Parts: sequence; structure tokens; C-alpha cells
Amino acid sequence: MLLLGIESSCDETAAALVEDGRKVLSNVVASQVDTHRSFGGVVPELASREHIRNIGYVVRKAFDDAGKAYEDIDGIAVTQGPGLIGSLLVGLSFAKAMAYSLKKPLVPVNHIEGHIYSAFIENPDVEYPFLALVVSGGHTSLIFSPEPQCYQPVGRARDDAAGEALDKLSKFLGLGYPGGPVIDRLAGEGDPGRFAFSIPKISDGRLDFSFSGFKTAALRHIREAGIKPRRSGGRISRIILDLVASYQQAIVDTLVSQTRKAEKKLHPRSILLVGGVACNSHLRKVFKHTFEETRKPREGARPVSVYYPSPVYTTDNAAMIAAAGAQRFDPDLPPDQELNAVAGLRLC
Ligand code: KG4
Ligand code: ZN
Repeated sequence: MLLLGIESSCDETAAALVEDGRKVLSNVVASQVDTHRSFGGVVPELASREHIRNIGYVVRKAFDDAGKAYEDIDGIAVTQGPGLIGSLLVGLSFAKAMAYSLKKPLVPVNHIEGHIYSAFIENPDVEYPFLALVVSGGHTSLIFSPEPQCYQPVGRARDDAAGEALDKLSKFLGLGYPGGPVIDRLAGEGDPGRFAFSIPKISDGRLDFSFSGFKTAALRHIREAGIKPRRSGGRISRIILDLVASYQQAIVDTLVSQTRKAEKKLHPRSILLVGGVACNSHLRKVFKHTFEETRKPREGARPVSVYYPSPVYTTDNAAMIAAAGAQRFDPDLPPDQELNAVAGLRLC
């Protein structure tokens, strides 16, 4: 079964051809980073216009790279939400028009479920039940899945998402956009113990996340230590490296500590680390160390395995959308022309 996946929920226009939900024949991503860089964040109106400009070329290239014709596909999986409404509408309208003209089934996919399935592309042995930490620029959620397509909410961001928190510090310090990869690279050179960030206590016992306090604390450190943002192209001072390392450490500690509490409560067989922030090298290392390497399995229980996708499947892409769509594909589904984008679509 061959599916075309289309993704346009934020600032990446993406298309991919995937066979049987796993074999990726092509995976094309047109990034808009250059368009949004000077604004230090995604500008929704510009994002929609860029998607319109790119979508035709990206889809055509996905077929060319895979050596397939339009008629070869069995259906189209497309992101329905959550995301920026203007951006979602471009991919969804394109998918509807293609499904109509080719008379092929259209499978709507939740972007978060797409991120979850990104971990399955290279790891067919992911076992249920699993606990997924979805960490990206727009989302931070812990989701428990006892069986395929059954999702239970465990925790979520109460304010900023983890990626948003990284992007904002980078913006304050003039380090570049998007901030996550820059901070990942610089944090390795700094001292994570130099600046204190206290991890907020969530008093109602839920496994939620709160990162906005770190942003306020970082601004206080910047003010008190008299840290000047880096001038364009200038050297990065030791104090900035230390601040960045301490900030990243606080975010990673929060993510690991909530995931650990959830793991103790729910006893999953697998832990999935997915979404753009899952590219972070320190986070990956600490996850492996915490849940696999230093863990003695409970008496009689199997040890837990940690899975994270390769970077190409970690940040937004359409292979993960086709992989998720394949689970729900039915050749009798219609080329649904009533389907609409939903900016706040929930998975659970
Ligand atoms: O999944 P994604 O491409 O888009 C959303 O669905 O939001 O995630 C983008 C986020 C951005 O905030 C970016 O700064 C962050 O992922 N990111 C990283 C790294 N690479 C991307 N954060 C930390 N370390 C990285 N290496
Ligand atoms: Zn995403």
C-alpha cells in the first residue's frame, strides 16, 4: 500500500511517498527558516504564502524522487491539525484536490500522532504499551498508549512549549533562529552549573510542564549579570555559553523528571522521544541513560526501551504523516471533499 503524505501545519512544506507505513521512498521538506529568520519566529501570514509557493513543487519532487506516477498511489494522508490555520489549509486543500482528481481515499492525520509514528518508521519493534514525550516548537505532551490508536493524556505544557522556550532564549541573546539547534551546539561548551533555575512544582499532582518561569529567570540573570546580547557575527562570551548550558539543563531535567514519574506510574514497555526538540543531543543522552542504562528492571518485568527517530523524521516531515495515515487507511475511504482543517485539533 503506497501513500502520499502531505504536511504543512507550521513552517515546513513537506511531501513523502511511503510504502506500507514504513518504507520511505521519498521525503521532501521545504523549510521556511530563511523567510522567518529576521522576525525571530514564524509569521503566520508569510508561512501560508510560502506554502502556496512551494506545495506543487514539493509534491512533484516526492513522486520524482520515488520514481512513481500519481496513479501509483493508493491514497493520500494529510495533516488536519493542530497547527496554523492558514498553513494547514494549503496542504489540506491541495490533498483534497489531488484525491478528487485521482479518485483516491483521503486520510486525515493528527500532527501529534504523526510525530508519534515517526518513531515507528525505523523501529518496527516498538512494543505497547508505550509512553511518548512529544516535544516541539508548539507542543510538549506526555501521552500513554496501551494499544494501537488508543491515546491517554498524561501531561501537557501549561504555558510555553519546550522548543518555544529554547527559541526565545536564543532570540534574547541574539544567537540565531531557530534557537533549539544553536543552543544544543553551544550548551556543550558551557558550564550548566553556573546559573540556577528552580524547577517549578506542579502542586495538583498532574504531570504537566511549565517553562515560562525559566524564561523570566533567564531575563533576571541577563539583567543582574549585565549580559549583552551577541552582536551580529560577534564572538559568543563565556557567560552566554554558561547561561545557555544552565537553561538547557533545566529544560532537560524537567522533561526527564516528569517522564520518569509517568514511567513509574504506568510501566510502559517503550518510551518514545519525538518532535523537533527530540533532536537535542543532551536530551537523547539523558533519556537513554535514565531509562535504559542505569535502570534495574522491576522484579520479573522486562526492561523499558527508549526510541527516537533520526533527525530527518524528528522535525516536521510528511513521512511521519504517511506512516500514521497507513494505520487507518481503508481503500473504501472517500476522497472526502468536506474535510476541514482544525487549528486546535486534539489527539486525546
Ligand atoms: O517538530 P518541529 O519541527 O515543529 C513543531 O511541530 O513545532 O519542532 C521545531 C522545534 C523548534 O522549537 C526548534 O528550535 C526545536 O524544535 N529543535 C531543537 C533542536 N532541533 C530543533 N531543540 C533542541 N535541540 C535541537 N537540536
Ligand atoms: Zn511538529
